[in-house]
Amino acid sequence: MSVSRGHVLLGGGTGFVGSALKQMLISKKYEVTVISRMPGARRVTWFDVCSSGLPDGVTAVVNLAGQNILDPLQRWTAGFKQNVWNSRINTTHTLAQAIAHAKRKPDVFVTVSGVGIYDPTSDDLFDEYSTISEPFDFLSKLAVEWEKAGKLEDGDVRHVVIRSGVVLGRGGGMIQQMFLPFYLGLGGPIGTGCQPLPWIHIKDICNLFVFAIENPEVTGVLNGVAPQVVTNDEFTRSFAKVLSRPAFFRVPQFALNLLFSEERAKIMTMGQKVCPKRVQELGFQYEYPDINSALKSVSHLIYSKKKPF
Ligand SMILES: NC(=O)c1ccc[n+]([C@@H]2O[C@H](COP(=O)([O-])OP(=O)(O)OC[C@H]3O[C@@H](n4cnc5c(N)ncnc54)[C@H](OP(=O)(O)O)[C@@H]3O)[C@@H](O)[C@H]2O)c1
Repeated sequence: MSVSRGHVLLGGGTGFVGSALKQMLISKKYEVTVISRMPGARRVTWFDVCSSGLPDGVTAVVNLAGQNILDPLQRWTAGFKQNVWNSRINTTHTLAQAIAHAKRKPDVFVTVSGVGIYDPTSDDLFDEYSTISEPFDFLSKLAVEWEKAGKLEDGDVRHVVIRSGVVLGRGGGMIQQMFLPFYLGLGGPIGTGCQPLPWIHIKDICNLFVFAIENPEVTGVLNGVAPQVVTNDEFTRSFAKVLSRPAFFRVPQFALNLLFSEERAKIMTMGQKVCPKRVQELGFQYEYPDINSALKSVSHLIYSKKKPF
């Protein structure tokens, strides 16, 4: 009989990143309980956590819940923005409260936030030591409050915040949306193409969550991005090359502004130069440190959600 390495309570464990992390944790012999809006096997709901607290024996709590901001079917209305906000801040706050009231505390609380906390109009290269300016737009305000919601009073529980860049994986996120147009030779850069595109491979972000869970010296902010900084143009050329397709069809900025509204289209039309200085200082090893190898690994036509890596 194999011995469990711990019990991870995973908010958003049904999503693109969460389901990949769940599989990785199970393969490493962790017990995983997912928190979802939908009840099911080996799941609890947010209501259960609010009313009954953490399930027994939880050693690590991770939150990856969040309404998809770039859902093209959702208009950028006040109501949708509220969902985007609540799905991140309220869920993170619920978990922080459950940890505060738990009789037996977990060792660690790992939350996610976004590189949108860094100013995309700046030419600076941001690392985890960079000073965060006052929130300047909805996305930066969201990231600041998201991180605050996870703050714990109890110093005995480690808190790690992973500021994630765009996650590259075949089963969801940006690659899933771009795959077909690029595969058909209809892809191209966005806007000027000069904007940085902070990115990380799905396997590396999952490994980084496991690294944060398993290493007692890891605490505070980690930039969940690959060490190689690329522009949108460089990303596009690399993706077109691994697919052996042309990529001439530049997507004009105004079209994205029209479709998504300028405030959220920024995620694609602007970008921050971000590096993972602390992640590397702490000795984390990337499997996909460069964009070519990362994109090669997500360029296959057929894929299975059961094999996210
Ligand atoms: N993917 C990226 O490139 C990327 C980049 C930076 C940051 N992030 C952040 O990382 C987290 C995970 O990303 P992801 O791509 O895996 O997201 P995802 O696939 O869209 O799924 C996240 C999960 O959040 C839950 N959720 C969705 N809407 C919700 C709502 N209104 N209220 C409560 N829960 C809700 C869903 O779980 P249930 O349906 O089971 O409740 C869903 O499975 C998100 O917070 C995202 O903002 C992602």
